[in-house]
Amino acid sequence: MLSLATGRLGYEVRQYKRGLPTVASFDITERCELHCKMCRFWLDGDHDEANELRTEEICSLVDELSGDLGVRRIRLLGGEPFLRPDALAIVRHAKSRGLHVNVVSEGSHVDEDRADEIVTSGLDSIRFSVDGVGARHDFVRGKRGAYELVSGAIRRVQDAKRRHSSKTPEVQVFAVISSLDYDQLLPLYEACRNEFAPARLLFGLVWEATPEEVLGSVWDGKQLADRHHLPIGSSLRLEGERLRIFEEQVARIHGKQETNIAARLLARVVQPLLQRDICPETNSFHVDPFGRVKLCSVYMNYAFGKYPESSVKKIWYSRKHRDFHLDLDENGFLPLCRSICAPVASYYVGAPRQLARNLLLRLVPSPFRTRNRGEAFDERPADLVIDPEPLARGRHPWRQSKELPIEARSGVAAPGQGVGAST
Ligand SMILES: C[S@@+](CC[C@H](N)C(=O)[O-])C[C@H]1O[C@@H](n2cnc3c(N)ncnc32)[C@H](O)[C@@H]1O
Ligand code: SF4
Repeated sequence: MLSLATGRLGYEVRQYKRGLPTVASFDITERCELHCKMCRFWLDGDHDEANELRTEEICSLVDELSGDLGVRRIRLLGGEPFLRPDALAIVRHAKSRGLHVNVVSEGSHVDEDRADEIVTSGLDSIRFSVDGVGARHDFVRGKRGAYELVSGAIRRVQDAKRRHSSKTPEVQVFAVISSLDYDQLLPLYEACRNEFAPARLLFGLVWEATPEEVLGSVWDGKQLADRHHLPIGSSLRLEGERLRIFEEQVARIHGKQETNIAARLLARVVQPLLQRDICPETNSFHVDPFGRVKLCSVYMNYAFGKYPESSVKKIWYSRKHRDFHLDLDENGFLPLCRSICAPVASYYVGAPRQLARNLLLRLVPSPFRTRNRGEAFDERPADLVIDPEPLARGRHPWRQSKELPIEARSGVAAPGQGVGAST
């Protein structure tokens, strides 16, 4: 009970009750050298380094998040975060502020020196994206030799931990499960127990939308998303026999884990609640490489504000931000939330704690859900003037604007058509 009050879960509940974020995600660059078949950063991203936030801007953003909003965990991703030479300087800065830091990387840029630096930076966990073993990973990632690079990176980090007698960073292996790697979970599980050990296997289902779902997700009169979650070629969604094979592998992995019974029991109770229309992102803060504070990583096309032009406090407490969540609560999920976000929580590999946390956060009343429209949070900073005027909107504003066009670009599949992805 004491650890519930003082530990991570207790902290998260306290933050949530005050309408404050617990975690921040930074896409520190959109630059990337791989050509993954499920990701568009390499294709559509803004690759101009000059537009990215500078090191000191990211560090002061970290300071404001921890100092003004009480954030304790941050995650650095991209694009490929290690394409920025200052990635580990940012980690060191966040660690000096006492934050828990996670980096997500495709692992092509981790030589022995960088592995040493990763360990000595104090980084808490590093998540390497691995979408299959050997040639399968290369195929999904669109680069021959990508598996050799990422598996080498994992081994080098594990060696560096041994050299420095360090338990951190925890090594996580993360697979995006799609129609291309639905049968790779067990081989990856074995790799985590053998060549990558000690490593934790995590996975998520591929995020993919239809043009109708993208067009249907409108709020505040704006299209919230663009092409980012449209397939580059044919759909990679997991269906039919492939879905069955994938589920069988999940069941076998659960069967092999000690947490098996607890996880399955919890999943059975919690799963229906997780499907309710409660946005799991009300407690996270997302920043893109250019300082735009986004709704979440699904709605890439809409920002609540831009840093450093506005402070993090001002952006977090902005009327747009509060009313967006209130609208979701009143009117239900938008089509993209339903298609991408709701199914994500469906599968866990032995993570009862994560399931319990998701459940608890849904039961705790948050000011995002309990206040009246136009009313401020209790924790509103005194110096902030909040416009009480509600946004002009219909009951389901997104359902009224099916006509918005998605800009066509070469290589992007038009509705119903497939364009082969490059390798
Ligand atoms: C965008 S990447 C950035 C970090 C780094 N470049 C990497 O690949 O790990 C962050 C995570 O999102 C995953 N990802 C990419 N496209 C995805 C999609 N369509 N659906 C779900 N996850 C995706 C990647 O595999 C990776 O684990
Ligand atoms: S998933 Fe990561 S490595 Fe692959 S294209 Fe996207 S940003 Fe690049």
